[in-house]
Amino acid sequence: MRWKENDMKACMRNSDGSAAGGGKLGKIITVTSGKGGTGKTTSTAAISSCLAALGRRTLCIDCDVGLRNLDIALGMTDYSVSDFTDVLSGATPLEEACHEHPKIPGLFFLSAPVFLDVSDIEAGAMDELCKSAREKFDFCLIDSPAGVGEGFSLAARNADIVVVVATGDHMSMRGAHRAASILADSGAGEIRLLVNRVSARRFRRLRSTVDNVIDAVGAQLIGIVAEDETVVMAGATGTPLVLYRDGRASRQFLSIARRLTGENVPLGRFL
Ligand SMILES: Nc1ncnc2c1ncn2[C@@H]1O[C@H](COP(=O)(O)OP(=O)(O)O)[C@@H](O)[C@H]1O
Ligand SMILES: [Mg+2]
Repeated sequence: MRWKENDMKACMRNSDGSAAGGGKLGKIITVTSGKGGTGKTTSTAAISSCLAALGRRTLCIDCDVGLRNLDIALGMTDYSVSDFTDVLSGATPLEEACHEHPKIPGLFFLSAPVFLDVSDIEAGAMDELCKSAREKFDFCLIDSPAGVGEGFSLAARNADIVVVVATGDHMSMRGAHRAASILADSGAGEIRLLVNRVSARRFRRLRSTVDNVIDAVGAQLIGIVAEDETVVMAGATGTPLVLYRDGRASRQFLSIARRLTGENVPLGRFL
């Protein structure tokens, strides 16, 4: 695939692993929604993989304690020995606790613990973890829990950009609107909308359009992703979506990743 041949190049780092180019700090991007099942984990894994394929050193952190499944979406179920609480406690440095993807150079993963009371997490320790991630990576994507609880706030508190994922159904739109409003009120970073599972048939049935979703959520669009069978296949086989090179969703996630790097990629036509 064209972008992969051109851009899958060695990530430019200093010898200690810090970002090259005069110590420019990386960006934290939190992926969230108001309702479960909209595609947060799928999007976190896919966008992270695309950023790594574009040559950006990228960390993705599973912050959805309890439901943790980012490892499955990345095909990294064997890489959950340490989790982010080891970094928060200071027991393990970030670079030791995270693992590089076996097939995607430059993509690193830090898992969530199976059991944890989110109220036990100190916000200051989370801030330190994000600071360290900014110093060592170009991008850090955080897979956040749905809803508007403590875990959601913790995952979003350091974000430069919060990507709110919504589908065309009313419950998802209302949840996304609520999440976006809370984020705006709390002074979170830039809020962007990803409309997922878009298909003419599905949206006709839902009596919805992408414009309806944008209006209902009240956030600027970062991209749309089609309802695509390869997303389901990728999840079922533990293969990162980016490796399904000809899938429509895969190409759309790549466009989103390119927009996040600051490239001007047209949104194209949508429903
Ligand atoms: N664009 C898509 N096309 C088809 N299926 C999708 C798409 N996005 C997500 N899914 C499916 O929807 C389900 C929920 O996705 P997931 O990413 O786990 O949601 P969340 O993390 O928000 O709970 C998964 O089975 C996933 O394969
Ligand atoms: Mg999830």
